[in-house]
Amino acid sequence: MSESMLGLKRTHRCTEVSEQNLNDKITIMGWVQKRRDLGGVIFVDLRDRTGLLQVVFDRDSIGEAGFEKAEKIRSEYVIAVEGDVEPRSEETINANLKTGKIEVRATTLRILSDAETPPFQIEEDTDVREELRLKYRYLDLRRPDQQRKMMMRHDIARITREFLNEEGFLDIETPMLTKSTPEGARDYLVPSRVHPGNFYALPQSPQIFKQLLMLSGYDRYYQIVKCFRDEDLRADRQPEFTQIDMELSFVDVDDVIDVNERLMQKIFKEVMNQDIELPIKRITYQEAMDRYGSDKPDIRFDLELVDLSEVVKGCGFKVFDGAIESGGSVRAINAKTCASLPRRQIDWLGEFAKTFGAKGMAWIAVNEDGSLKSAITKFLSEETVQNILAEVKAEPGDLILFIADKNEVVYRTLGELRLEIAKRLGYLDSDEFKFVWVTDFPLLEWNEDANRFVAKHHPFTCPNEEDLPLLDTDPGKVNAKAYDLCLNGCEIGGGSIRIHQREVQEKMFEALGFSKEEAYERFGFLLNAFKYGVPPHGGLAYGLDRIAMLLSGSESIREVIAFPKVKDASCLMTEAPGLVEDKQLEELALKIDKID
Ligand code: AMO
Ligand code: AMP
Repeated sequence: MSESMLGLKRTHRCTEVSEQNLNDKITIMGWVQKRRDLGGVIFVDLRDRTGLLQVVFDRDSIGEAGFEKAEKIRSEYVIAVEGDVEPRSEETINANLKTGKIEVRATTLRILSDAETPPFQIEEDTDVREELRLKYRYLDLRRPDQQRKMMMRHDIARITREFLNEEGFLDIETPMLTKSTPEGARDYLVPSRVHPGNFYALPQSPQIFKQLLMLSGYDRYYQIVKCFRDEDLRADRQPEFTQIDMELSFVDVDDVIDVNERLMQKIFKEVMNQDIELPIKRITYQEAMDRYGSDKPDIRFDLELVDLSEVVKGCGFKVFDGAIESGGSVRAINAKTCASLPRRQIDWLGEFAKTFGAKGMAWIAVNEDGSLKSAITKFLSEETVQNILAEVKAEPGDLILFIADKNEVVYRTLGELRLEIAKRLGYLDSDEFKFVWVTDFPLLEWNEDANRFVAKHHPFTCPNEEDLPLLDTDPGKVNAKAYDLCLNGCEIGGGSIRIHQREVQEKMFEALGFSKEEAYERFGFLLNAFKYGVPPHGGLAYGLDRIAMLLSGSESIREVIAFPKVKDASCLMTEAPGLVEDKQLEELALKIDKID
């Protein structure tokens, strides 16, 4: 029963029609949101990506045959309507609709496509299970809130391009089929047919290529580009995601930060109509860890960590003493007004703490009358208890949570407890946006498994000049010209100034435990290129998906990706990944050994 559009040309999108068009003849096309049949009159809400417009069918205007056709219309049919724009009568005005004061009286109807009843209704803020939505993602993407998210994402990308073009950046593409890149995740591999047994890696980022572009004299590069990382998925992580990637020549940290702050300011102004005050606050990595227990601190609220190691040193409580003696620390957060939490909730927090590697979570509740409730005060002198309470500025009603362990565990656990408490106390307002730069990251990080240092960012990150001598003597203490931009506790971007001197680069590889041969084997083309004149350079990459997620108030990155993957990295709609034909394997000289 589908008809062609022959002779009809769309004149407006649904909500582009307004009172300006009263008495005009217009042609609109879209999906049927809803049809109401009131006997002699049929009302249809027509939907396209701009919104809804009401169409009225009556026999007088459209004729008998047209009316009969209108009776056949169902939800999600695609129709074309030619008609006259009329004002709605006073009592039928819908103030919730942009087009609520008008309607279109149809004179011609074409049914361009019929539709089966969809597995769920196409409506705003649906509570349909995500699995079902993703299986029928093409229907889910019709929902207005979903369409707004995709349009917002487009705006962020568009504004970014406009800004970077304006600032003299060149958009240059880099290969998708390449060699392993150095971001430290697992690679997605692509077998080569022409070179049996050989594999391309999909890029984890364009890092090496953008550095080479600087070396080739392109001065300022950007790209909005897919990156691939085979890692465990989370709410803010996808195996393929999009970076806003950039690199600049002849710059130092402040130059990169300056351009990027102005970019963020422009995006926020144009997308959110919010003014960001510049400069954005900067804190060092160490300060971020000490105050917030995280290198991506959420600074919308305080609830800061307090180091009690000095106060409790030698206190006699073996849990505290033990942690300090073995080089760790004892720290706490003061959960304001949480003393009244029921015991089982406090115990739940203790179990929650253990999931981050803590051996336990000690606590002191300060009752409203000033008396204390705690399982650990009996191990501590009255004086120590008072000193602790003074140090954390405890007041009646407060609940103090303690973690004693290696610093790494203390930071991680208290950092997570801090967020959990904030969530419970309603401190996390998704309409409030707080940026912070985290700077001076350690250059290297000790990896227990590999028993060697690994790069905290990547092996091309430039050490702070004043720390260069430490590279030989105490590499763990070297800080880097690296910076992350965090928004509401999410790392939205990260970058660094790069090493541009070959000697420093070689030293860096040495610190990473690579022999010269190994370094050349992995990154030879870059190291060789560095022989031929390298401008000082640096850059940054954002997770575009993460920015879109935060700005649209979405719970997960999947909401702002048209066709996302789920937790096990599969696509519920296409059912990728899938098996392939034996013949394809043969061509690639591959054999499948076992499948679980
Ligand atoms: P980095 O690895 O920090 O840096 O990545 C940059 C930004 O990309 C986002 N991101 C992700 N988003 C979604 N899913 C993922 N799996 C994922 N992984 C990373 C984050 C992150 O801040 N080449 C360097 C950048 C540079 O030094 O210039 C790089 O890729 O928001
Ligand atoms: P214990 O003497 O081991 O029973 O511990 C006494 C209290 O200290 C309990 O409330 C534990 O939850 C808590 N606790 C145990 N280990 C730690 C730790 N590493 N950090 C903080 N509190 C702990």
